Amino acid sequence: MPSYSAQDRLPCGAMISGRGSNLQALLDACARNDFPAEIRLVISNLPDVQGLARAQAAGVATQVIDHRNFPSREAFEDAASAAFQAAGVKMILLAGFMRIVTGGFVKRWQGLVVNIHPALLPLYPGLNTHARALADGVKLHGCTVHFAEAEVDSGPIIGQAAVPVFPDDTPESLGARVLTVEHRLYPECLRLLASGGARREGNRVVLEPGSIPENARIVVPGG
Ligand code: GRF
Repeated sequence: MPSYSAQDRLPCGAMISGRGSNLQALLDACARNDFPAEIRLVISNLPDVQGLARAQAAGVATQVIDHRNFPSREAFEDAASAAFQAAGVKMILLAGFMRIVTGGFVKRWQGLVVNIHPALLPLYPGLNTHARALADGVKLHGCTVHFAEAEVDSGPIIGQAAVPVFPDDTPESLGARVLTVEHRLYPECLRLLASGGARREGNRVVLEPGSIPENARIVVPGG
């Protein structure tokens, strides 16, 4: 992938299903003068979700493509791909998109489909990550930004951020702590990808020396 700059921004599309707080963090980053990416189109598979209003408030085009109106996952994805292609999108950001994407979709986008997951992968793929982490008594938890592959919550890791787990945590309190670092990590990883600071090499993502984002390697104090 070529390198992009604030003058020549990487055109991205985002897929959401709900609240869109990660989308908001990405929109905020894209609103900065020095950011090397932009969001051209936000697609939601559900109508009337908060994320759509966030995109509209930021002046970004939105489209509802309701998966329930399609006979198959592939047919839904074909419609989404066509909309993204018409918008000139080159990278797709999954931001709380609660549908599995197929290998065909990932391949069509040349592997440039990125996801954020609320756990330190490869630990806790799937749902209810905060409750499962608490049940295991882990002392660190966090989030991962990674390239998506056909297998759910797998693929080369671009960045991770960790938070401490406290003895009195509930899934809600732990989830809220993780969410604050999600909002820092996702834009930072997008910046690295767009500017060429992070490159995919096979099953790994290589970070250029000096490009390692602070919030992708330190434990962020919680509380
Ligand atoms: C986030 O926790 C994200 O990691 C996961 O789904 C949640 C979406 O939240 N994939 P939001 O819609 O970004 O607020």
